[in-house]
Amino acid sequence: MSGGAMTDTTWTPGEAAARDPRNHPDLPWWKSAVIYQIYPRSFLDTDGDGVGDLEGIRRRLPYLAELGVDALWLSPFYRSPMADFGYDVSDHCDVDPLFGDLDNARRLVREAHEHGLRVLVDFVPCHTSDLHDWFVDARSSPDATHRDWYVWRDGDPSTPPNRWMSAFTGGPAWTWDGANGKWYLHLFLPEQPDLDWHHPEVVDAMFDVLKFWLDLGVDGFRVDVVHLIGKDVPDGHDVPDPEPAPLTHELLRRMRTLVDAYACEPVLVGEVYIMSTRAVASFYGRGDELHLAFNFPPLYAPWDAAAWRKRIDRVVEELDPIGAWPTWVLSNHDNTRHRSRYGSAEKARAAALLLLGLRGTPFLYAGEELGLSNAVIPADRRVDPGGRDGCRAPIPWSAGPDHGWATANPWLPWPPEADTADAAAQEADPGSFLHLYRRALAARRRSPALRDGAFGWLRSRAGVLAWERTAPGDRRVVLVNMTGKAVTFPGAFTLLVSSSPADTTWSGTLGPWTAVWLIPA
Ligand code: NOJ
Repeated sequence: MSGGAMTDTTWTPGEAAARDPRNHPDLPWWKSAVIYQIYPRSFLDTDGDGVGDLEGIRRRLPYLAELGVDALWLSPFYRSPMADFGYDVSDHCDVDPLFGDLDNARRLVREAHEHGLRVLVDFVPCHTSDLHDWFVDARSSPDATHRDWYVWRDGDPSTPPNRWMSAFTGGPAWTWDGANGKWYLHLFLPEQPDLDWHHPEVVDAMFDVLKFWLDLGVDGFRVDVVHLIGKDVPDGHDVPDPEPAPLTHELLRRMRTLVDAYACEPVLVGEVYIMSTRAVASFYGRGDELHLAFNFPPLYAPWDAAAWRKRIDRVVEELDPIGAWPTWVLSNHDNTRHRSRYGSAEKARAAALLLLGLRGTPFLYAGEELGLSNAVIPADRRVDPGGRDGCRAPIPWSAGPDHGWATANPWLPWPPEADTADAAAQEADPGSFLHLYRRALAARRRSPALRDGAFGWLRSRAGVLAWERTAPGDRRVVLVNMTGKAVTFPGAFTLLVSSSPADTTWSGTLGPWTAVWLIPA
């Protein structure tokens, strides 16, 4: 018997409606949602230019609805010269022709909603492209309207104003603008000048961007590098690294007020790229800043039970007391895919039940449900200045050579699984990653305990994480064996989902690198 028979995912329409957390108005939708990140360039190309597009995402909506996720987060698809593949925005309120146009965006949001999927878009507030009209104007003259929208410093062309370094280049976070005789700040590429959020017109203009997308119908934003929007910029060479300032929190409160005024309960998910969970917690404010914040330390934890336990404990200690709702993420467009990090399919499968079994909002990265690894990128195909091409490989939807894309030559090479485990092949294999994710997502959606229930550790052997999730009348036990040896776990249970396709019942023994969800007998 395949693992597919372990859960009954067939609901009557009435049952589905009753169990659907979206029909429980007391619980914000984003607390029980699973959010699926799409990197549009790599999802599906329908026009043959080798780059994915909005129409490609639209065509896969039935697949995403069937997968069982609740919301999509789309990485930037705005007009951009693509120096940072879209995180260098030259028009926040238009779609880059590579991806389609605004009508494609409207249609995608509308049809996603028809499929029961909410849509989050990326909001990139810290910087624009150097080719954005605002920056082109800013550097055109000292009296330009947008001059002070960016961070300029006078000085000596041989000595940057402070010691800050730009991500990706290894050089200073400052570029000398010869025509103006001034430095400008860019925490990322020189093509990404930082906006100065101390300027009220910047705040208004960027808040107008939020309103534009909310009026178009989106359900929230993933906010890029959000902790640094309100930074102070000290001069001198003994300054600390860029750090959040009180202005960031004030701006977040205003942003929260803005989005909370929309009836569709938009969510703000912040990319708080700080490796301290305590610091991350501060961006929830008093329930009046971010609804959700990424917490990256677990993503960087090794495949080790003690390390994971520590990361989970930190979340419980820092977030619970302030009523902040956690997030969990294993892979995204900036980091090596977790299958490659952990080094095996077994561990990646177990990680699925780890991630989806925790208390909080999980984020899946497109292709994670297919168990994709990073692609190997030959030197002559490398394009990202940050060396992140491997995790951005195109998704193989069906057999080669084009794998369902409109061309067999996408912008990056295919991932290693393309020839053996494309999505169509996995569809036909009940033991595949795809079916494991579908089973887990269905089981999660129908269990109040797994969706938003309480979390509590259970005693277990070294190398095994064991916890329970509980809600009134509902209890689930999650076991993750991070060791290469089989281990026993006492008690009477029935098997809900196992990461191992070989398991059909609960025998009391957990295989090596295996995770299970159990129902107490
Ligand atoms: C974080 C984004 O995730 C990353 O892809 C981007 O390069 C930087 N922010 C700059 O916007």
